[in-house]
Amino acid sequence: MTQPFSPAVLERLGNAQRVTAFTGAGISAESGVPTFRGTDGIWSKFRPEELANMNAFMRNPELVWEWYAHRKRVIAEVQPNAGHHALVRLEQLVPQFALITQNIDNLHRRAGSVTVYELHGNIERNYCMACGRTMSNEEVLATPGVPHCSSCGGMVRPDVVWFGEMLPEDEWEKSVRAAESSDFFLSIGTSAVVYPAASLPLLARDQGACLVEVNPERTPMTDNVDEFLQGQAGTILPALVRALEGIRAGRD
Ligand code: OAD
Repeated sequence: MTQPFSPAVLERLGNAQRVTAFTGAGISAESGVPTFRGTDGIWSKFRPEELANMNAFMRNPELVWEWYAHRKRVIAEVQPNAGHHALVRLEQLVPQFALITQNIDNLHRRAGSVTVYELHGNIERNYCMACGRTMSNEEVLATPGVPHCSSCGGMVRPDVVWFGEMLPEDEWEKSVRAAESSDFFLSIGTSAVVYPAASLPLLARDQGACLVEVNPERTPMTDNVDEFLQGQAGTILPALVRALEGIRAGRD
């Protein structure tokens, strides 16, 4: 089925020099990674205050590690989907491109996206809380329980951002610059409720970008976007990229 994109959006995309995509858990849903919110979301089954903050970790590191070890194994088994692959193609088609993600699943890089800013960390990385040494998933999953640093014996944690923690400064600054300088900004598969990440789409729009949202459901941001593309990322993004390829072919 051909996706009906408005002529205004296709014109803005066809002329865009700097395109930024901003993704949330929804883009990985079709790969089989559960989202956080909604009826089947992770936070409907588990309490974030028991699993995703430093106090919870210090109180019960075994429980937190059990949960992360499970998620690491689930994510290692899944594959990038058509939505991830469409963003790889988009990066090749436009002069400047940045992909900002809230996801920790590493599926954008595994698909082949190059310029990726990870605002909430990456579940494939771990580091020692005492000496900072990094450890691979292979190392930390080799033995059950809480992993310890093979250099200093300190406790190891996943390299993900927990509630109450700062975002990685460098990734955040690059993301703000990408948002501010983009002329076309795609917000994909995010409920747009977790700040500061959720401020980026409207920052881009305030600075003049055409803001397009891709989501099966409306979000708090939907009333303020230039175009709401209602549906699944794995369907809409490949269609949008095909439309851009069509525009480019027509100009040749
Ligand atoms: P959410 O679970 O809050 O939202 C997922 C969004 O994806 C919802 O708006 C869904 O409607 C939409 N969605 C579902 N299936 C989709 C599909 N096939 N295509 C497109 N969209 C789809 O996830 P995030 O917005 O990513 O933070 O959540 C933000 C942050 O909250 C996460 O990064 C995580 C979480 O707590 C940390 O871990 C720090």
